[in-house]
Amino acid sequence: MCGIVGYIGEKQATTLLVDGLKRLEYRGYDSAGVSLMNGNGLETRKAKGKIAMLEQAIASDPIKGKIGIAHTRWATHGPPNECNAHPHHDCKGKISVVHNGIIENYGPLRAMLQKTGHVFVSETDTEVLAHLIEAAFDGNLEDAVVDALALVEGTYGIAVLSADDPDKIVAARKGSPLLIGIGEGENYVASDVAAILAHTREVVYLDDGEMAVLTRDGYSVCDLYQQTVKKGVSRIDWDLDQIEKGGFDHFMLKEIMEQPQTITNTMRGRLVTEEGFSKLGGLNLSMEELQNLDQIIITACGTSWHSALIGELMIEEHARIRCEVEYASEFRYRNPIVTDKTLCVVISQSGETADTLAAMREAKRRGARTLGLVNQVGSTIAREDDGGIYLHAGPEIGVASTKAFTSQVIALALLTLKLGRLRNMSVVQGRDIAQAMEALPAQIQSILDRASEVETIAEAFSDATNFLYLGRGYNFPVALEGALKLKEISYIHAEGYPAAEMKHGPIALIDADMPVVFIAPHDSVFEKVVSNVQEVKARGGRVIAITSREEPSLAGKIDYEFRIPETIDMLNPVLAAIPLQLLAYYIAAKRGLNVDQPRNLAKSVTVE
Ligand code: F6R
Repeated sequence: MCGIVGYIGEKQATTLLVDGLKRLEYRGYDSAGVSLMNGNGLETRKAKGKIAMLEQAIASDPIKGKIGIAHTRWATHGPPNECNAHPHHDCKGKISVVHNGIIENYGPLRAMLQKTGHVFVSETDTEVLAHLIEAAFDGNLEDAVVDALALVEGTYGIAVLSADDPDKIVAARKGSPLLIGIGEGENYVASDVAAILAHTREVVYLDDGEMAVLTRDGYSVCDLYQQTVKKGVSRIDWDLDQIEKGGFDHFMLKEIMEQPQTITNTMRGRLVTEEGFSKLGGLNLSMEELQNLDQIIITACGTSWHSALIGELMIEEHARIRCEVEYASEFRYRNPIVTDKTLCVVISQSGETADTLAAMREAKRRGARTLGLVNQVGSTIAREDDGGIYLHAGPEIGVASTKAFTSQVIALALLTLKLGRLRNMSVVQGRDIAQAMEALPAQIQSILDRASEVETIAEAFSDATNFLYLGRGYNFPVALEGALKLKEISYIHAEGYPAAEMKHGPIALIDADMPVVFIAPHDSVFEKVVSNVQEVKARGGRVIAITSREEPSLAGKIDYEFRIPETIDMLNPVLAAIPLQLLAYYIAAKRGLNVDQPRNLAKSVTVE
């Protein structure tokens, strides 16, 4: 959501910090700021809007320093403006704090601090941290941070500077990701490895309840009772060009185009085609535990929730295990039935989504085994789950999730194979699925090679104000996903529906101004979908159909058609999603919108 980057070393830090912020901009982005230790004290610049605005503020009033912290904000408390942007300060301007997360008891803390004379200038929850640290400060910054955090309820990833204890950065984490980047004669702190990858690949991930003290020459980690914690160092193997646009206009288009490769990466070393089997080394479940599972609960949010719906259908059809899908935000607040034979599959691209993480913790508390399908290596969900299947889709920067979705569906197919073959799926059935999976990268490529056909369709509909997406069976979740993609980046209202449900209400909306996208590959429910197409056409609706072969029964009933290759039913979503991603992309691009950073959205939703 918001982004943090901090530096301590021998280099001038301003540009380095601003460049780090640019790499975090995709996470949340309504304002930004930076504080530097300039030799005499702290100096801060902030600006509302994109990082470019902060750069302008710095250009017109430069700051220098070799120790600094910086932040991109996604507003929670108080509107986006310069005053509410981070870093925040104490009364004397001697303490500077950047913060991701939410201080839940900031109201009473603020009132208490005001009673003792502290003057607040912003509407944020974060500012209480600066004043609490000021109130506790007695010459040593880490002691003051520990005392301040003892009073705080909520979530935080913070980095703090003090002009009176100047040669360090103190960072602490509870519920909001934070890591240390290790350099030579310099060290970094960041909420996301992308911010510091240009400088170091050696990182230490902080866990909840940990605090780090960074100096030029080293770092130490302790808990909030100041007991030393020994931490392992992880090495990041992404390349910088993976987080750059590589010649595409937008990250979203680059990420759509990467999908032949990214799903190959998800399958690599896991698919045993001849035996119709999958090898999933990270499950951490014995054969017996896998065989004894009596139900699977899949929990996730947004696009990941859509892939969960596809997983449910696959697992019930082919592995014959009862499976439920839950919105993570709902699961955590109800009283679900979970036993020690329940496997809770948690799907998250970022591995940091607050609701999904909380749902996983709740499932664990209730005795379930947890399995994370996560893209971001080293993320909180990946570290706290009992076992996992990494997606290996590489960094996803565009806010609208694309390649993570197809990799999630592939990971779920691998899991289905594993579970099915341990039950009553025959080797022949398993092999059919595995062969169909192997064919997918080339099939996706053949769709991408015809992207211009989707662009032509987008041209015809870029002025539409509403869209309906309809599909049945495995393609109903694809309809939901197509609608979500369109609404989040083009701001066109779009709804996904099971095609037959349309008759029970939404059909009233159909007229010549309502484009209806049918996901209608030639699968086991195709004929049923044809009747639904007829119902729309009879009411003057404009039909865009995603089909997989020449269909005489559709002749004269569709206005625009895009063909996808044929595959088995359970894998249709992987292919059908691609033209829908492209359709959303081209419509948003034609409307001149900021495709990678749609308004009000953040890549990683780390607040409840
Ligand atoms: C939509 C989108 C979001 C995310 C959701 C969950 O394009 O990106 O709906 O899917 O916020 O995020 P993760 O998968 O990181 O838990």
